[in-house]
Amino acid sequence: MPKSRLFLLFSLILLASCSREPLTALDVEQPEGWDDDLALTIPEDLNPDPNILEIELEAQIVDIEIIDGLTTPVWTYGGTLPGPLIKAKVGDTVIIHFKNSLPDSTTIHWHGLRVPNQMDGVPGVTQPPIEPGGEFRYEFTVNDAGTYWYHPHVNSAAQVGWGMYGPIVIEDPNDPEEFGDELILVMSDMSLNVRDGSFLAENAGGDFTNLFGKEGTVVLVNGKIRPTLKVRQGKQQRWRVINASRSRYIPIRLRDHTFTILGGDNGLAERSREAGRVVISPSERADVVFTPMHEPGTTQTFRWIPFNRGFGTVYRRASVPMIDIVTVMDEAVIPEEIPEQLRIIEPIDISNAIETDLEMTIAQDTSNKIEMGFNGIPYWSMKPLEARVGETHVWNLINNSDFNHPFHLHGYFFQVLDESRIPEWKDTIDVPVGETVRIAVHFEGRPGMWMYHCHILDHAEAGMMGQLWVGPADSTDPAPEQDLSVLIDVMVKEE
Ligand code: C2O
Ligand code: CU
Repeated sequence: MPKSRLFLLFSLILLASCSREPLTALDVEQPEGWDDDLALTIPEDLNPDPNILEIELEAQIVDIEIIDGLTTPVWTYGGTLPGPLIKAKVGDTVIIHFKNSLPDSTTIHWHGLRVPNQMDGVPGVTQPPIEPGGEFRYEFTVNDAGTYWYHPHVNSAAQVGWGMYGPIVIEDPNDPEEFGDELILVMSDMSLNVRDGSFLAENAGGDFTNLFGKEGTVVLVNGKIRPTLKVRQGKQQRWRVINASRSRYIPIRLRDHTFTILGGDNGLAERSREAGRVVISPSERADVVFTPMHEPGTTQTFRWIPFNRGFGTVYRRASVPMIDIVTVMDEAVIPEEIPEQLRIIEPIDISNAIETDLEMTIAQDTSNKIEMGFNGIPYWSMKPLEARVGETHVWNLINNSDFNHPFHLHGYFFQVLDESRIPEWKDTIDVPVGETVRIAVHFEGRPGMWMYHCHILDHAEAGMMGQLWVGPADSTDPAPEQDLSVLIDVMVKEE
């Protein structure tokens, strides 16, 4: 008889002999050391006030062993990959003393957080780029529970590709414990030479790879190749998944399982739902309950599966192992019931909305260079869209190009106008080939110049980016004149 069966028999006899109630998920702990292999760095909080998180963060190049026996000169936040976990609760103030010890200028963008405009980290627009050796103090209040992340907005495809990203979790202390123990999974990839661990040249493949968007040669979870996670059958885990890849779409799926989707970008959706698969496009997040259903003593592998995001993107692609999931020998427990109603999300009132078409376009300029943009115009020639605080806008995101584009708006949450979707707040939405996605956004405050762009970072740098001027409520002034030279200079470095 196999060991696992023997064990099961033994536990059943034991169970019968004391005739106790079967255990449920909340009665037991996760297996010992369950998430050790996926541990994130927790920064030291320098502020004794429980409602203020104050940390130091230094960008620096550090040699890290990503491929066994080889080192990679990773561009890091704080020396680790991914950068330290910034975790706070709703209403807290977060202060980051940032120092740039990189050989290049940089900034930090707090992806998804509704920060004041001057904290948004866009070089030459909301702040000057932070030069090598320079410092910057970021400070903001976090009012929206959810899963977010931070990354540079300078030469982003390169800097993000070299390791510059870190997770942010804003907790709602009222979340039911039935959701399970939290596991933060930062999924990304890197373009490494697998023979020596060095980075492949940024321009390897040229214009063509920019058109596709670069996907790495190794896939990482919390900075590691194929880490191990321990689970107990029936004992739930709440996975907060962040896609920090430059271009790779990540389907969350596992054989013989469904996931309970709680929400994504900006906290819980209105209702939970069961799904066999949820696809996270670059920069999106998923908040899901994972209920392990495999037999004790078995190992399954969570794999990256090729996802068709447009022309040729699945051609000759193989699946990639991402996480080995070991189901420990402990007896199975009964999973907790996950509530269906999670919160109330009032639909944005669009009766007086101003409607705008934004077509995501790919063209070739006269020298055959690929030029992307919105409505045929790259960001360096584009006039800002205009809005006022208090207004509501509806944007039609139109995609007639050959690739999907994950559309991201800085500074504000939006709702997708689609009756078939469960209402939720988003800051990034995938716009598939040949489709139009309608979003509604209400500019509730925080005037200033904000960005929107495709989050395939090569696409953004090739032009698929634009600015949005949100003017003060009572003003009728047009958007201020823009000098985009700094932004253009730092966004696209000569390769
Ligand atoms: Cu992750 Cu401009 O954003
Ligand atoms: Cu794109």
